[in-house]
Amino acid sequence: MPHHQQREIRYNFEYEARLKACFIGCGGHAYRNVYPALRYAPVDLTGVCDLDLDRAKQFAKLFGGERGYSDHHEMLEAEQPDLVFIVTAYTPDGRVQATDLALSALQAGSHVWMEKPTAASVAEIDRLDEVSRGAGRMVMTGMKKTFFPTIEKLRDLIDSPDFGRLTSLAVRYPQPLPPMDDRGDLVKMRSFLDHIYHPGSILNFLGGEIERASYERDAVTGATVTNFRFSSGAIGALHMTAGQSWSGPLERVEVIGEGAHAVVENGTDLTVYRQADLPSYGRAASFLQPDDHAALLFSPERSLGQLYNNNLFYLGYVPEILHLTDAILGGRDITKGTLASAREIMKLFDFYRTIGPGVAANL
Ligand SMILES: NC(=O)c1ccc[n+]([C@@H]2O[C@H](COP(=O)([O-])OP(=O)(O)OC[C@H]3O[C@@H](n4cnc5c(N)ncnc54)[C@H](O)[C@@H]3O)[C@@H](O)[C@H]2O)c1
Repeated sequence: MPHHQQREIRYNFEYEARLKACFIGCGGHAYRNVYPALRYAPVDLTGVCDLDLDRAKQFAKLFGGERGYSDHHEMLEAEQPDLVFIVTAYTPDGRVQATDLALSALQAGSHVWMEKPTAASVAEIDRLDEVSRGAGRMVMTGMKKTFFPTIEKLRDLIDSPDFGRLTSLAVRYPQPLPPMDDRGDLVKMRSFLDHIYHPGSILNFLGGEIERASYERDAVTGATVTNFRFSSGAIGALHMTAGQSWSGPLERVEVIGEGAHAVVENGTDLTVYRQADLPSYGRAASFLQPDDHAALLFSPERSLGQLYNNNLFYLGYVPEILHLTDAILGGRDITKGTLASAREIMKLFDFYRTIGPGVAANL
Protein backbone atom coordinates (compact mmCIF):
# COMPACT_ATOMS: atom_id res chain seq x y z
CA MET A 1 0.00 0.00 0.00
CA PRO A 2 1.68 3.28 -1.05
CA HIS A 3 2.02 6.02 1.56
CA HIS A 4 1.12 8.73 -0.90
CA GLN A 5 -2.41 8.43 -2.21
CA GLN A 6 -4.56 10.93 -4.02
CA ARG A 7 -7.69 11.00 -1.84
CA GLU A 8 -10.84 13.04 -2.17
CA ILE A 9 -11.37 15.12 0.92
CA ARG A 10 -14.81 15.32 2.49
CA TYR A 11 -15.97 18.38 4.39
CA ASN A 12 -16.78 17.90 8.08
CA PHE A 13 -20.57 18.09 7.65
CA GLU A 14 -20.56 15.50 4.85
CA TYR A 15 -19.49 12.58 7.05
CA GLU A 16 -22.16 10.18 8.27
CA ALA A 17 -20.02 8.30 10.81
CA ARG A 18 -18.58 10.84 13.25
CA LEU A 19 -16.52 10.87 16.43
CA LYS A 20 -17.36 12.91 19.49
CA ALA A 21 -14.28 15.05 20.11
CA CYS A 22 -12.97 17.38 22.79
CA PHE A 23 -10.00 19.71 22.57
CA ILE A 24 -7.53 20.74 25.29
CA GLY A 25 -5.54 23.89 24.56
CA CYS A 26 -6.47 27.18 22.91
CA GLY A 27 -3.07 28.59 21.98
CA GLY A 28 -1.55 30.05 18.84
CA HIS A 29 -0.65 26.87 16.95
CA ALA A 30 -4.00 25.27 17.69
CA TYR A 31 -5.76 28.40 16.42
CA ARG A 32 -3.78 28.61 13.21
CA ASN A 33 -3.42 24.97 12.26
CA VAL A 34 -5.35 22.39 14.27
CA TYR A 35 -8.88 23.69 14.94
CA PRO A 36 -9.14 24.79 11.26
CA ALA A 37 -8.15 21.26 10.17
CA LEU A 38 -11.24 19.85 11.92
CA ARG A 39 -13.32 21.32 9.06
CA TYR A 40 -12.18 18.29 7.03
CA ALA A 41 -12.43 15.55 9.69
CA PRO A 42 -15.32 13.34 10.84
CA VAL A 43 -15.61 14.94 14.27
CA ASP A 44 -18.25 16.72 16.32
CA LEU A 45 -16.45 19.11 18.62
CA THR A 46 -18.30 19.25 21.92
CA GLY A 47 -15.96 20.41 24.72
CA VAL A 48 -13.15 22.96 24.35
CA CYS A 49 -10.82 23.49 27.30
CA ASP A 50 -8.19 26.06 28.19
CA LEU A 51 -6.86 27.25 31.54
CA ASP A 52 -8.35 30.57 30.44
CA LEU A 53 -12.11 29.92 30.37
CA ASP A 54 -12.95 33.00 28.30
CA ARG A 55 -10.49 31.87 25.65
CA ALA A 56 -12.01 28.37 25.66
CA LYS A 57 -15.48 29.84 25.13
CA GLN A 58 -14.23 32.09 22.30
CA PHE A 59 -12.58 29.13 20.57
CA ALA A 60 -15.73 27.03 21.02
CA LYS A 61 -17.78 29.78 19.40
CA LEU A 62 -15.34 30.26 16.52
CA PHE A 63 -14.70 26.60 15.75
CA GLY A 64 -18.12 25.05 16.34
CA GLY A 65 -17.52 23.58 19.82
CA GLU A 66 -20.53 23.34 22.10
CA ARG A 67 -19.15 24.14 25.56
CA GLY A 68 -16.06 25.79 27.08
CA TYR A 69 -14.19 24.44 30.14
CA SER A 70 -11.16 25.41 32.18
CA ASP A 71 -10.73 22.00 33.85
CA HIS A 72 -10.04 19.04 31.60
CA HIS A 73 -11.14 16.50 34.24
CA GLU A 74 -14.53 18.17 34.40
CA MET A 75 -14.75 18.22 30.59
CA LEU A 76 -13.79 14.55 30.18
CA GLU A 77 -16.28 13.52 32.86
CA ALA A 78 -19.11 15.58 31.38
CA GLU A 79 -18.49 14.94 27.67
CA GLN A 80 -17.18 11.32 27.55
CA PRO A 81 -15.49 11.96 24.16
CA ASP A 82 -14.30 9.28 21.72
CA LEU A 83 -11.25 11.37 20.90
CA VAL A 84 -9.34 14.18 22.61
CA PHE A 85 -7.07 16.64 20.80
CA ILE A 86 -4.28 18.05 22.99
CA VAL A 87 -2.27 21.09 21.90
CA THR A 88 -0.63 22.56 25.00
CA ALA A 89 2.89 23.70 25.92
CA TYR A 90 5.42 23.21 28.76
CA THR A 91 5.46 23.24 32.57
CA PRO A 92 7.77 25.77 34.31
CA ASP A 93 10.34 22.97 34.80
CA GLY A 94 10.34 22.15 31.07
CA ARG A 95 8.15 19.04 31.08
CA VAL A 96 5.57 18.51 28.34
CA GLN A 97 2.09 19.41 29.61
CA ALA A 98 0.42 17.15 27.06
CA THR A 99 1.96 13.95 28.47
CA ASP A 100 -0.11 13.97 31.68
CA LEU A 101 -3.17 15.30 29.84
CA ALA A 102 -2.92 12.36 27.43
CA LEU A 103 -2.79 9.94 30.38
CA SER A 104 -5.96 11.54 31.80
CA ALA A 105 -7.74 11.26 28.45
CA LEU A 106 -6.76 7.58 28.07
CA GLN A 107 -7.92 6.87 31.62
CA ALA A 108 -11.25 8.52 30.71
CA GLY A 109 -11.57 6.03 27.81
CA SER A 110 -10.69 8.37 24.91
CA HIS A 111 -8.30 8.05 22.01
CA VAL A 112 -5.71 10.84 21.91
CA TRP A 113 -4.35 13.02 19.14
CA MET A 114 -1.58 15.19 20.54
CA GLU A 115 0.93 17.67 19.18
CA LYS A 116 4.60 16.88 19.40
CA PRO A 117 6.55 16.62 21.65
CA THR A 118 4.81 13.57 23.09
CA ALA A 119 6.99 13.65 26.21
CA ALA A 120 10.45 14.60 27.46
CA SER A 121 11.81 11.10 28.16
CA VAL A 122 11.67 7.47 27.02
CA ALA A 123 10.19 6.50 30.43
CA GLU A 124 7.21 8.81 29.89
CA ILE A 125 6.58 7.30 26.44
CA ASP A 126 6.68 3.82 27.98
CA ARG A 127 4.13 4.89 30.59
CA LEU A 128 1.82 6.27 27.87
CA ASP A 129 2.23 3.03 25.94
CA GLU A 130 1.34 0.94 28.97
CA VAL A 131 -1.78 2.98 29.75
CA SER A 132 -2.77 3.11 26.05
CA ARG A 133 -2.59 -0.70 25.78
CA GLY A 134 -4.43 -1.16 29.08
CA ALA A 135 -7.23 1.18 27.96
CA GLY A 136 -7.37 -0.21 24.40
CA ARG A 137 -7.13 3.37 23.12
CA MET A 138 -4.60 4.87 20.69
CA VAL A 139 -2.26 7.80 21.18
CA MET A 140 -1.13 9.53 18.03
CA THR A 141 1.44 12.32 17.91
CA GLY A 142 1.14 14.87 15.12
CA MET A 143 4.34 14.05 13.22
CA LYS A 144 3.23 16.28 10.41
CA LYS A 145 6.34 15.89 8.25
CA THR A 146 5.63 12.21 7.71
CA PHE A 147 2.34 13.37 6.12
CA PHE A 148 3.84 15.89 3.68
CA PRO A 149 2.88 14.53 0.24
CA THR A 150 6.51 14.97 -0.84
CA ILE A 151 7.95 13.03 2.12
CA GLU A 152 5.35 10.27 1.65
CA LYS A 153 6.47 10.08 -1.96
CA LEU A 154 10.12 9.68 -0.86
CA ARG A 155 9.06 6.72 1.29
CA ASP A 156 7.27 5.17 -1.70
CA LEU A 157 10.35 5.67 -3.87
CA ILE A 158 12.49 3.93 -1.27
CA ASP A 159 10.05 1.01 -1.43
CA SER A 160 10.07 0.87 -5.24
CA PRO A 161 12.37 -1.59 -7.09
CA ASP A 162 13.62 1.04 -9.59
CA PHE A 163 15.21 3.05 -6.76
CA GLY A 164 17.23 0.15 -5.34
CA ARG A 165 17.58 -0.07 -1.57
CA LEU A 166 17.98 3.10 0.49
CA THR A 167 21.74 3.52 0.81
CA SER A 168 22.00 6.97 2.38
CA LEU A 169 19.93 10.00 3.30
CA ALA A 170 20.51 13.56 4.44
CA VAL A 171 18.18 15.89 6.34
CA ARG A 172 18.78 19.58 6.87
CA TYR A 173 16.95 21.50 9.61
CA PRO A 174 17.93 24.74 11.41
CA GLN A 175 18.16 24.13 15.16
CA PRO A 176 20.86 24.94 17.72
CA LEU A 177 21.99 22.35 20.26
CA PRO A 178 22.76 23.99 23.65
CA PRO A 179 26.23 23.54 25.18
CA MET A 180 26.83 20.26 27.07
CA ASP A 181 26.56 21.91 30.52
CA ASP A 182 22.99 23.06 29.77
CA ARG A 183 21.65 19.79 28.45
CA GLY A 184 20.61 18.37 31.81
CA ASP A 185 18.19 21.28 32.18
CA LEU A 186 14.89 20.65 30.36
CA VAL A 187 14.08 24.37 30.34
CA LYS A 188 17.29 25.10 28.42
CA MET A 189 16.57 22.11 26.15
CA ARG A 190 12.99 23.20 25.47
CA SER A 191 13.52 24.53 21.96
CA PHE A 192 15.61 21.49 21.03
CA LEU A 193 12.95 19.11 22.40
CA ASP A 194 10.23 21.09 20.65
CA HIS A 195 11.95 20.74 17.27
CA ILE A 196 13.81 17.42 17.31
CA TYR A 197 10.47 15.75 16.51
CA HIS A 198 10.52 17.32 13.03
CA PRO A 199 13.81 15.99 11.58
CA GLY A 200 13.58 13.01 13.96
CA SER A 201 10.25 11.90 12.52
CA ILE A 202 11.59 12.16 8.95
CA LEU A 203 14.70 10.12 9.82
CA ASN A 204 12.55 7.47 11.48
CA PHE A 205 9.94 7.36 8.71
CA LEU A 206 12.46 7.13 5.86
CA GLY A 207 15.44 5.39 7.47
CA GLY A 208 13.91 3.29 10.26
CA GLU A 209 15.66 2.58 13.55
CA ILE A 210 19.01 4.30 14.19
CA GLU A 211 21.73 1.98 15.40
CA ARG A 212 24.75 4.28 15.92
CA ALA A 213 25.41 8.02 15.85
CA SER A 214 28.07 10.67 16.41
CA TYR A 215 28.12 14.42 15.86
CA GLU A 216 30.28 17.55 15.71
CA ARG A 217 29.02 20.92 17.02
CA ASP A 218 29.84 24.55 16.22
CA ALA A 219 30.57 26.24 19.55
CA VAL A 220 29.20 29.65 18.47
CA THR A 221 25.89 28.85 16.78
CA GLY A 222 25.22 25.39 18.26
CA ALA A 223 24.90 23.98 14.73
CA THR A 224 25.60 20.27 14.43
CA VAL A 225 26.34 17.65 11.81
CA THR A 226 25.44 14.12 12.88
CA ASN A 227 26.33 10.81 11.20
CA PHE A 228 24.02 7.85 11.53
CA ARG A 229 24.03 4.16 10.77
CA PHE A 230 20.53 2.72 10.57
CA SER A 231 19.68 -0.87 11.52
CA SER A 232 18.85 -1.46 7.84
CA GLY A 233 22.52 -0.81 6.96
CA ALA A 234 21.78 2.58 5.36
CA ILE A 235 23.79 5.58 6.51
CA GLY A 236 22.56 9.13 7.05
CA ALA A 237 23.36 12.68 8.09
CA LEU A 238 21.41 15.34 9.96
CA HIS A 239 22.71 18.85 9.40
CA MET A 240 21.17 21.18 11.97
CA THR A 241 21.92 24.51 10.35
CA ALA A 242 21.71 26.93 13.29
CA GLY A 243 23.26 30.19 12.10
CA GLN A 244 21.54 30.17 8.72
CA SER A 245 19.48 33.10 7.48
CA TRP A 246 15.76 33.22 8.27
CA SER A 247 15.21 34.51 4.74
CA GLY A 248 16.01 31.11 3.25
CA PRO A 249 14.14 27.81 3.10
CA LEU A 250 14.55 25.79 6.29
CA GLU A 251 14.67 22.27 5.07
CA ARG A 252 16.02 19.82 2.54
CA VAL A 253 15.67 16.05 2.52
CA GLU A 254 17.68 13.88 0.16
CA VAL A 255 17.45 10.11 -0.28
CA ILE A 256 19.91 8.06 -2.29
CA GLY A 257 19.24 4.58 -3.64
CA GLU A 258 21.26 2.54 -6.12
CA GLY A 259 21.65 4.63 -9.26
CA ALA A 260 18.75 6.92 -8.38
CA HIS A 261 18.07 9.70 -5.87
CA ALA A 262 15.44 12.28 -4.93
CA VAL A 263 15.40 15.66 -3.19
CA VAL A 264 12.65 17.53 -1.36
CA GLU A 265 13.45 21.21 -1.14
CA ASN A 266 11.52 23.58 1.12
CA GLY A 267 8.85 20.98 1.91
CA THR A 268 6.93 21.18 -1.35
CA ASP A 269 9.37 20.83 -4.25
CA LEU A 270 10.29 17.27 -5.12
CA THR A 271 12.76 16.20 -7.80
CA VAL A 272 13.17 12.52 -8.57
CA TYR A 273 16.37 11.69 -10.44
CA ARG A 274 15.59 8.34 -12.05
CA GLN A 275 18.22 5.84 -13.14
CA ALA A 276 20.17 7.24 -16.09
CA ASP A 277 23.52 6.73 -17.76
CA LEU A 278 26.22 9.38 -17.73
CA PRO A 279 26.16 10.94 -21.23
CA SER A 280 29.28 9.97 -23.16
CA TYR A 281 32.12 11.58 -21.15
CA GLY A 282 33.97 14.29 -23.08
CA ARG A 283 31.87 13.64 -26.22
CA ALA A 284 28.14 14.17 -25.48
CA ALA A 285 26.95 17.54 -26.82
CA SER A 286 23.59 17.63 -25.01
CA PHE A 287 22.70 17.18 -21.35
CA LEU A 288 19.12 16.04 -22.11
CA GLN A 289 18.44 12.51 -20.95
CA PRO A 290 16.00 10.25 -22.85
CA ASP A 291 12.42 10.92 -21.64
CA ASP A 292 12.06 7.66 -19.73
CA HIS A 293 15.22 8.43 -17.69
CA ALA A 294 14.67 12.16 -17.24
CA ALA A 295 14.17 13.78 -13.86
CA LEU A 296 10.61 14.15 -12.57
CA LEU A 297 9.71 17.50 -11.01
CA PHE A 298 6.74 17.98 -8.68
CA SER A 299 5.75 21.43 -7.42
CA PRO A 300 2.27 22.73 -6.54
CA GLU A 301 0.50 25.24 -8.75
CA ARG A 302 -0.46 28.18 -6.57
CA SER A 303 -3.21 30.00 -8.41
CA LEU A 304 -6.33 27.90 -7.78
CA GLY A 305 -8.18 27.94 -4.44
CA GLN A 306 -7.44 24.25 -3.97
CA LEU A 307 -6.89 22.22 -0.82
CA TYR A 308 -3.51 20.90 -1.98
CA ASN A 309 -1.89 24.33 -2.13
CA ASN A 310 -3.17 25.22 1.34
CA ASN A 311 -0.70 24.56 4.15
CA LEU A 312 -3.32 22.60 6.11
CA PHE A 313 -2.72 19.93 3.47
CA TYR A 314 0.83 20.25 2.15
CA LEU A 315 2.16 20.53 5.71
CA GLY A 316 0.20 17.43 6.69
CA TYR A 317 -2.14 18.97 9.29
CA VAL A 318 -5.39 17.52 7.90
CA PRO A 319 -3.90 14.20 6.74
CA GLU A 320 -2.36 13.52 10.16
CA ILE A 321 -5.77 13.92 11.82
CA LEU A 322 -7.51 11.77 9.20
CA HIS A 323 -4.92 9.04 9.79
CA LEU A 324 -6.22 8.67 13.35
CA THR A 325 -9.93 9.20 12.67
CA ASP A 326 -9.80 6.69 9.76
CA ALA A 327 -8.11 4.17 12.06
CA ILE A 328 -10.64 4.64 14.88
CA LEU A 329 -13.66 4.44 12.59
CA GLY A 330 -12.17 1.53 10.61
CA GLY A 331 -11.13 -0.45 13.72
CA ARG A 332 -7.46 -0.38 12.65
CA ASP A 333 -4.18 0.61 14.30
CA ILE A 334 -2.36 3.76 13.28
CA THR A 335 0.97 3.24 11.51
CA LYS A 336 2.37 6.81 11.68
CA GLY A 337 2.81 9.13 14.64
CA THR A 338 2.87 6.02 16.86
CA LEU A 339 4.30 5.82 20.36
CA ALA A 340 6.98 3.50 18.91
CA SER A 341 8.10 6.33 16.58
CA ALA A 342 7.97 8.84 19.44
CA ARG A 343 10.14 6.46 21.48
CA GLU A 344 12.79 6.40 18.72
CA ILE A 345 12.81 10.22 18.68
CA MET A 346 13.19 10.33 22.46
CA LYS A 347 16.19 7.98 22.15
CA LEU A 348 17.70 10.49 19.74
CA PHE A 349 16.93 13.33 22.17
CA ASP A 350 18.66 11.37 24.97
CA PHE A 351 21.68 10.81 22.70
CA TYR A 352 22.13 14.58 22.21
CA ARG A 353 21.49 15.23 25.91
CA THR A 354 24.08 12.81 27.19
CA ILE A 355 26.79 12.25 24.55
CA GLY A 356 29.48 14.82 23.77
CA PRO A 357 30.77 15.67 20.28
CA GLY A 358 33.05 13.25 18.47
CA VAL A 359 31.89 10.15 20.36
CA ALA A 360 30.13 7.31 18.54
CA ALA A 361 27.24 5.96 20.59
CA ASN A 362 24.84 3.07 20.09
CA LEU A 363 21.23 4.15 20.36
N1 LIG B 1 3.56 20.80 14.34
C1 LIG B 1 3.72 22.09 14.22
O1 LIG B 1 3.81 22.63 13.12
C2 LIG B 1 3.75 22.96 15.44
C3 LIG B 1 3.94 24.35 15.30
C4 LIG B 1 3.90 25.14 16.46
C5 LIG B 1 3.67 24.54 17.69
N2 LIG B 1 3.51 23.18 17.77
C6 LIG B 1 3.26 22.53 19.08
O2 LIG B 1 1.97 22.94 19.54
C7 LIG B 1 1.97 23.04 20.95
C8 LIG B 1 1.39 24.38 21.37
O3 LIG B 1 2.22 25.44 20.93
P1 LIG B 1 1.70 26.94 21.04
O4 LIG B 1 2.82 27.79 20.57
O5 LIG B 1 0.38 27.07 20.41
O6 LIG B 1 1.55 27.10 22.64
P2 LIG B 1 0.69 28.16 23.45
O7 LIG B 1 1.44 28.40 24.72
O8 LIG B 1 0.30 29.31 22.57
O9 LIG B 1 -0.66 27.38 23.79
C9 LIG B 1 -0.78 26.42 24.78
C10 LIG B 1 -2.19 26.54 25.37
O10 LIG B 1 -2.42 25.40 26.18
C11 LIG B 1 -3.16 25.81 27.31
N3 LIG B 1 -3.02 24.82 28.38
C12 LIG B 1 -1.90 24.42 29.02
N4 LIG B 1 -2.19 23.50 29.96
C13 LIG B 1 -3.52 23.32 29.92
C14 LIG B 1 -4.42 22.50 30.63
N5 LIG B 1 -4.02 21.70 31.63
N6 LIG B 1 -5.73 22.57 30.33
C15 LIG B 1 -6.17 23.38 29.36
N7 LIG B 1 -5.38 24.19 28.64
C16 LIG B 1 -4.06 24.15 28.91
C17 LIG B 1 -2.58 27.18 27.66
O11 LIG B 1 -3.48 27.94 28.47
C18 LIG B 1 -2.36 27.78 26.26
O12 LIG B 1 -3.50 28.51 25.82
C19 LIG B 1 3.41 22.74 21.40
O13 LIG B 1 3.46 21.38 21.78
C20 LIG B 1 4.25 22.96 20.14
O14 LIG B 1 5.38 22.12 20.09
C21 LIG B 1 3.54 22.39 16.68
